[in-house]
Amino acid sequence: MSKSQLKLYYKNVTAEVIGEENGISSGRLQALAEQTSPLIQKLNTERKASQTPYRELPYNEKIPQQVKALAAQLKDDCENLVVLGIGGSALGNIALQTALNPYMYNLDEKQRRGPRLFVFDNIDPTQLASFLDWLAGTLDKTVFNVISKSGRTAETASQFLIVRQLLSDRLGPQALKKQIVATTDPEHGTLRKIAIDAGIRCLQVPDGVGGRFSVLSAVGLFSAAMCGIDIDSLLAGARDMDARVSNEDFYKNPAALNAAINYHFYNNGRKISVMMPYSFALKDLADWYRQLWAESLGKANALDGAQLNIGPTPVKALGTTDQHSQVQLYREGPDDKLFTFLKVENFDKNLKTGPAPDNATELSFLADTHLSSLLNCEKIATEYALLQDKRPCLTIHFDTVSPYTVGQFIYLYEVTTSLAGALFGINPYNQPAVELGKEATFALMGKKGTYKKDLTYEDFAQQIRSLTEVDADFLA
Ligand code: PA5
Repeated sequence: MSKSQLKLYYKNVTAEVIGEENGISSGRLQALAEQTSPLIQKLNTERKASQTPYRELPYNEKIPQQVKALAAQLKDDCENLVVLGIGGSALGNIALQTALNPYMYNLDEKQRRGPRLFVFDNIDPTQLASFLDWLAGTLDKTVFNVISKSGRTAETASQFLIVRQLLSDRLGPQALKKQIVATTDPEHGTLRKIAIDAGIRCLQVPDGVGGRFSVLSAVGLFSAAMCGIDIDSLLAGARDMDARVSNEDFYKNPAALNAAINYHFYNNGRKISVMMPYSFALKDLADWYRQLWAESLGKANALDGAQLNIGPTPVKALGTTDQHSQVQLYREGPDDKLFTFLKVENFDKNLKTGPAPDNATELSFLADTHLSSLLNCEKIATEYALLQDKRPCLTIHFDTVSPYTVGQFIYLYEVTTSLAGALFGINPYNQPAVELGKEATFALMGKKGTYKKDLTYEDFAQQIRSLTEVDADFLA
């Protein structure tokens, strides 16, 4: 049986559909092919030289083995799995769970294939306090997976300090060994150090793999395996896509086409990239994409140091919900967006409407019909409406939503991001602008010592305060 596939459909960005002025002509596509093809080769070469370790994750046999062994050890006695992490250390976990487990997974035991899953990627005290109150009765049946590559991210570190104290107070210090799994740098960092000292079990964030490219490592795989997701199939899907995105024939390479089309529209005034899944299960993959795209491509400088301040703004929308919220703007507002729909051909479950009441025959067209047909008709209808206004639309077709197709999607977008970075001439693997906010938080929270040459954290905090102190004259 042929495997369920993911396909990129790009006719609706072409001049043939939306006209010469708005669409990509075949001549322009050929120019993009000529510009992108050497970059596919370059990426393939870099990969062979081990410069992009995320590309090898689907082939790593050790990681899934370790993850499955640990999951098998912990699963039977675990009612709740709580992930503490943020950004690349959380968004992939959330996306896998929403995509590949039932909507009522946490609430309905019949639908659960593992512990309930909660991912805390924020530090709102009201939220966490409410959760910990609820958790009190099953604390001894809870595993906390603390995920932090650096181990020093304020949000994750503070959550960890709360949980560490809670476990020690309620269940004794031995509970740390039993109930915490730390996913962190193989050797370095604060979390690794604490874990070694306290005998906490560890999984690794592989060397050279940044947070937002790490979902196919232990970062994303452990919670997925605990919750019954077929991680082998997820990785097989990524390998399937690898063959396609490594293809040096531009027209056969979905990542190259996707990156080049995005690059083209960015340079033609469409600086916003809307991803709109027509599937609730895929909604958090759009959130994962939002971080991948924004942190990787939003950069001040080109590789040669020239100032660029470049990067498409990724926006997440959900069909059909946002048809009733955003589509008015998308059609009649500024023509500054490229749309990417996610469409599912075969839904896992379906529902049929009943007959229309005799006194409401105007509803007959909706009677005795599948919801999946309505959902997909609405996708086509929205796309048609946007095309009437000559707005460019891509579609990613999922045969089904399965670990295999989700693995393909993840790998497709990771490599699309690398290629888009190469087209924009920037480094997609760093995030220097996020660091300043992290350091400023440390300073404001009273960190001691040297922040950087000739500046202590105390002086840095002073500088921040003098700039950000609330001026009552401006309170209205
Ligand atoms: O993609 C990234 O690199 C970031 O979003 C990080 O994942 C995020 O800042 C969390 O970092 P850490 O895993 O070091 O706690």
